Amino acid sequence: MTSSRLVPAGVARNWPGMTWAALGMAAAIAIAAPVRGHAADAFPSKPIVMVVPFAAGGPTDVVARSVAAAMSKSLGQSVVVENRLGAGGTVSASYVAKAAPDGYTILIHHNGMATAPALYSKLSYKPLTDFAFVGQVADVPMTLLGRHDLPPNSLPELVTYIQKNQSKVNLANAGLGAVSQLCGMLFQKAIGVDLQAIPYQGTAPAMTALLGGQVDVLCDQTTQTLPHIKADKVKLYGVTTVDRIQALPNAPTLREGGLKGFEVKVWHGVYAPKGTPPAVIDKLNGALRAALKDPAVAARLQELGAVIVPEDKQTPEGLRTWLAAEIDKWSPIIKAAGVKAD
Ligand code: MLT
Repeated sequence: MTSSRLVPAGVARNWPGMTWAALGMAAAIAIAAPVRGHAADAFPSKPIVMVVPFAAGGPTDVVARSVAAAMSKSLGQSVVVENRLGAGGTVSASYVAKAAPDGYTILIHHNGMATAPALYSKLSYKPLTDFAFVGQVADVPMTLLGRHDLPPNSLPELVTYIQKNQSKVNLANAGLGAVSQLCGMLFQKAIGVDLQAIPYQGTAPAMTALLGGQVDVLCDQTTQTLPHIKADKVKLYGVTTVDRIQALPNAPTLREGGLKGFEVKVWHGVYAPKGTPPAVIDKLNGALRAALKDPAVAARLQELGAVIVPEDKQTPEGLRTWLAAEIDKWSPIIKAAGVKAD
């Protein structure tokens, strides 16, 4: 056999000046190309890991587990939730940004993707350029809560109480960079106080501390707080959305309670590492959209006050443009507030 027989048809003819080493490499690329295409066709051929940046049992985890279970059904492979805690979600985001771009490691994250660039001076990833976008998931209102025996019974009373007892009142959050921290920061700014912050590695442990009376105030998502509000285990001072929410129709908004212009709404997106093949992203996006149509997912999310986003936001482009707009929205607010996480 002569060496020329090893060269795929067309390679030597098109590149007469090539060395044998270069021809060998060209041949390897020509042979590998259909394999890559085949790998995307066969995707997924093993379980997919969905990384959650906060503690199990918390709001992000609850949304992730509902969606992951439904995605598993349409992908024919398990989507396994893995909680990687720390630094307000940046540990997880950094991990997924550096993972193999093959679709087997994906991230679900919230507004923290947009707030991290302003909160962290040393961020090891760029939210807009180090990820491939799969789609948005659901929006979740937040609630401002106090421990059950905190004296004030309404938002105006809470504001007066905090302003008088500033050095004694503390505010829990799910870590620097968590939405609970963002909400707490905006609340303090709105009423002109600076409270002691008690960070946890997710809302689940922060909520346990509030229920146990170890912390005074917490602002967090209905996907975690609703059952405790309904069971009358905490005091509810208001919702953070512009309008009242269906899940708590009698709860006033913080705006109604006197905090002009106050609004925080949590949104969630699914990401893959940059360079994930478009065919793989298509499959992940198809599975995400199918999950969001699944009646069990819709019922579970609705029960917890979450609202599935419209179909145009469930797309890669819907998530990318939304993230870009959110970075533009939050960066000046965080900078003006002078808050840093590192
Ligand atoms: C947050 O405050 O950012 C989230 O509620 C964190 C979590 O999902 O635990």
